[in-house]
Amino acid sequence: MKPVAVRSFSPALCALWLAAAQAMAAPDDAAMLKLATGSGCMTCHHVEPGAKGPDGLPPIGPAWRDVAVKYKGQSGAEKQLTATVLAGSNPYDSHWKGKVSGLAMPPNRVAISEPDARRLVQWILSRDANRP
Ligand code: HEC
Repeated sequence: MKPVAVRSFSPALCALWLAAAQAMAAPDDAAMLKLATGSGCMTCHHVEPGAKGPDGLPPIGPAWRDVAVKYKGQSGAEKQLTATVLAGSNPYDSHWKGKVSGLAMPPNRVAISEPDARRLVQWILSRDANRP
């Protein structure tokens, strides 16, 4: 996000814009990780790619950074993934076949509310390759 006409902004507006940009760039990682851990997601997922699952197999579920890269720029991804998180995925139509050792994700509706699932998916989708 590059401001085009920064010079025409007053210093006060600039400060406001910066504060807003920082707030958007830094969703509360610690709170999101706590929510994910408390909801059981981290039993099967990691944030960073490269981690191994039990017995040295590929991880059970895809790394969330890989999820962000795969769905980057796809409209509707947030809605679709929130639905998948709540209802589980289809073992006959695996989206990560061959890349993970889990065949399908079980429904998480018992572990997480719909608004929390959406917030978590928004955060997952913000983990694309350009973010530390
Ligand atoms: C018991 C293991 C398990 C748990 C617990 C689990 N997942 Fe998953 N998750 C998986 C597997 C396996 C896949 C890959 C499914 C596939 O290949 O279509 C997956 C896929 C996903 C995807 C990508 C879906 C797609 O269609 O590409 C997202 C996003 C996700 N999980 C988020 C979550 C969140 C958020 C939670 C916690 C509320 C969670 N997962 C809990 C195993 C799990």
